[in-house]
Amino acid sequence: MEKPTYYITTPIYYPSSNLHIGHSYCTVAADVMARYKRLQGYDVMFLTGTDEHGQKIEEKAKEAGVTPKQYVDKVVAGIQELWQLMNISEHRFIRTTDDYHEESVRKIFKKLYDKDEIYKGTYKGKYCTPCESFWTETQLVDGKCPDCGREVTDAEEEAYFFRLSKYADRLLKLYEDNPGFLEPKSRVNEMVNNFIKPGLEDLCVSRTSFTWGVPVDFDPKHVVYVWVDALSNYITALGYGNERYHDYEKYWPADVHFVGKEIVRFHSIIWPAMLMALDLPLPKKIYGHGWLNFNGEKMSKSRGNVVDPAILCQRYSVDAVRYFLLREFPFGSDGNFTNELLINLINTDLANDLGNLVSRTVTMALKYFDGKLPAEQTTDPMDVELIQMASVLKHKVEAQMEAFQFQNAITETMKLVSRTNKYIDETAPWILCKDESKKGRLAAVLYNMLESLRIASILLTPVMPDSCLEIQRQIGAPDELCTWGQAGRFGLLPRDVQVTRGPNLFPRINLEKELAELESHLPSEGKKAEPAQPQSPAKPAKKEEKEPVEGVASLITIDDFAKVNLRVATVLECERVEKSDKLLKLQLDDGSGTPRQVVSGIAAWYRPEDLIGKKIIVVANLKPAKLRGQLSQGMLLAADVGEAASVIFVNDGIPNGSKVR
Ligand code: MSP
Repeated sequence: MEKPTYYITTPIYYPSSNLHIGHSYCTVAADVMARYKRLQGYDVMFLTGTDEHGQKIEEKAKEAGVTPKQYVDKVVAGIQELWQLMNISEHRFIRTTDDYHEESVRKIFKKLYDKDEIYKGTYKGKYCTPCESFWTETQLVDGKCPDCGREVTDAEEEAYFFRLSKYADRLLKLYEDNPGFLEPKSRVNEMVNNFIKPGLEDLCVSRTSFTWGVPVDFDPKHVVYVWVDALSNYITALGYGNERYHDYEKYWPADVHFVGKEIVRFHSIIWPAMLMALDLPLPKKIYGHGWLNFNGEKMSKSRGNVVDPAILCQRYSVDAVRYFLLREFPFGSDGNFTNELLINLINTDLANDLGNLVSRTVTMALKYFDGKLPAEQTTDPMDVELIQMASVLKHKVEAQMEAFQFQNAITETMKLVSRTNKYIDETAPWILCKDESKKGRLAAVLYNMLESLRIASILLTPVMPDSCLEIQRQIGAPDELCTWGQAGRFGLLPRDVQVTRGPNLFPRINLEKELAELESHLPSEGKKAEPAQPQSPAKPAKKEEKEPVEGVASLITIDDFAKVNLRVATVLECERVEKSDKLLKLQLDDGSGTPRQVVSGIAAWYRPEDLIGKKIIVVANLKPAKLRGQLSQGMLLAADVGEAASVIFVNDGIPNGSKVR
């Protein structure tokens, strides 16, 4: 029987020699999904690659004194190495400079032109070179690019346009008829309210001011707009419009495109409209994941806070980094990466819980039975809860994985790990071993521990493939008992299983020492806290910068704390306060039905658009005050990070007005 297929993609990356841990987030998540589906028996196509055309690359190559192709070849090799290091199991890696892709892009453009979906006109407007994005005057924020906040340039040139505007109604209907098309839900509102409802304009899809791109087939002084070139990769890599591959029929439409939140717009508006214009089926789902920030700030080279995934993998193991990325942050929301969080999670979850369970289990089996359990064992009613929990775990994990809730999926499995550690304390093998008549019982306890580990290791395999294989080797579980399906059955290991001692999987890390060492790996500008903007001091967290522990004299009672009315609210609108460098004025939906206005001194660290749509915590019973003549009815919670303020954001799923205690 033919296997069911599953097609998953990541965005194709701009060739940057500086991929940071945030970039690897999406690729690791997609890899985990691909491995999970493979384990379930799917025929998986997992595509990633690089997006190599455009003015920015042309300029960088010029600066480096090489041709654009020479430039990208070198950088792309580095990206491929990084994915290899991170154990990314992609099936296909596409480069937009691959001949077959370029051939398909030329055909796609021509087909759209022949169908009158593309027409020739004159482009007048603004262009952001780093983002390769055209903007209208009204879309700019403070005259700058609404995506990256950088300067835009005037652009006027003969160009081809894609009739995007005519797809507005079909796109709205698409979101309405297919609520699962774009997730998480909050991204749909963003697309509808910020882009479609204000009016979609036809999209400029060719440029003549540079040459590093796919030439338009019938008018070669034009090159195809990079996003048309890039988005097409999802079908050209399957062989659409070329003879290099023949997988289009088999895998298209894609099951899911994973993309970062800032490129959801391209994937949920331009891409479906292009496919509609080509009369091709649409992908089944776009999932717009959140961003990892670093100590509350955007990761970027100019801020000197780029965290190198290769260094982290070398220091803590690839599996630990993969685990951290998916266990620490909910996939749909932004997360704040800190080295401290990473090390603490490795110590608690991996060293204390999982690693400890493996070594306790193997050590006891060796100590009490020389590694081979006796087949005669005595079960006990107290085993039932553990067995029950382990037996239903697979279903729970699957439900979370299908919803791309990696964090919850892992948490479910780690609950079994904790429960098994507790089971050891409850059954106290070190006491059982003293009584010869309890040997059978002791063996059953150890057997249950091994079975829990077998199940947990199967379910964690997509996240930590190498470590889980090693766990299975140590607990004596052969491959044929470690297929995905067998995670749903307790009691498969032979009763007289043989265990083997192995290396300590997750050694504990000395937090303070590590933090100091990691800091020495940050680019030097980062250490000197070179600000990206005049008022934005970017500093990596330093241990000494932490607040001293408060003295007893300043302790408060729970009743004192209860006086503070903390509520979850969404930022509806946000703007700078005139003549102030420091203040932002926010309108909040705090669930009361009346917008609440708050003025906050965070303008040095946040742009208004960084906050709109975000959920924050507001002190709702603070005496109103006027700041620069503006009424402020409350205050946002923010953490001090060095000299910067880092606003506390909360999960999209928490309703406005929820009390925070
Ligand atoms: N080339 C385009 C994508 C074209 S897809 C047809 C692009 N490339 S990128 O290299 O800038 O970004 C690749 C992915 O990395 C994007 O999904 C982006 O959201 C993601 N990330 C970049 N920085 C990130 C974080 N700090 N955190 C999480 N993801 C981030 O966009």
